[in-house]
Amino acid sequence: MSVAKKEYKRITVKSLVDMKKRGEKISMLTAYDFTMAKIVDGAGVDVILVGDSASNVMAGHETTLPITLDQMIYHASSVVRAITRSLVVVDIPFGSYQSDPKEALRSAIRIMKESGGHAVKVEGGKEIKESVKRILNAGIPVMGHLGLTPQSIYKFGTYTVRAKEEEEAKKLKDDALLLEKAGCFAIVLEKVPAKLAQEVAESLTVPVIGIGAGNGVDGQVLVTHDMLGMTHEFNPRFLRRYLDLYSDMTGAFESYIDDVKSGDFPNDSEQY
Ligand code: KIV
Repeated sequence: MSVAKKEYKRITVKSLVDMKKRGEKISMLTAYDFTMAKIVDGAGVDVILVGDSASNVMAGHETTLPITLDQMIYHASSVVRAITRSLVVVDIPFGSYQSDPKEALRSAIRIMKESGGHAVKVEGGKEIKESVKRILNAGIPVMGHLGLTPQSIYKFGTYTVRAKEEEEAKKLKDDALLLEKAGCFAIVLEKVPAKLAQEVAESLTVPVIGIGAGNGVDGQVLVTHDMLGMTHEFNPRFLRRYLDLYSDMTGAFESYIDDVKSGDFPNDSEQY
């Protein structure tokens, strides 16, 4: 059992800020369904992200753009039913907060009311400041997301490392400060140079959670299906695989097929 699991009965946004103060790293993983969330929560992960990466991982889309608010609420409510301890953060999907702050608030309220999630996550800085403030004013905790923001993939054109140049690095630092000042309780930094990420983490009082952002930040997040080795074709440098489930599952399915074809399954003790 992890140290954090013993320390906190239930993770809140305040627990995360306390962890940063105490120098305790924050663990965060994605989940999109009841069964996975139950395992992740039971293992003691601090934050479960119902990411819009569900669009890729669960639905097979090339990007995160197609997933809808209704679909995110479906995934999030399945996760919420499974958890006893983790903080559940839900991505507001593309097209549900960018056009105006009132729409952003409506989307955030739907997520909180219909899924039972504990907080929402949005991508971007200055451009979405008013939406972030509007959501926060309603008492809904907001996690920011800067660096590589997959909802803007068609603007970037590629999934390569962001903010390598001075100008973009400066904008990222300004945006991080702006999100903290607006009241965000944490910020995800995706695929940016480790040195820049550390600088940002050191300049903020709220936790910075990295994915492909090095070890100088306050916590780490990975997509669960990637770290379990279920997604073979995705191989970024930042990904540490803890299992090779793709191979293990393939082996199990092949054994099942063989057993069915040979008549070995079910045997005498597996029938009524
Ligand atoms: O949707 C997602 O899974 C995410 C993480 C990669 C941070 O936003």
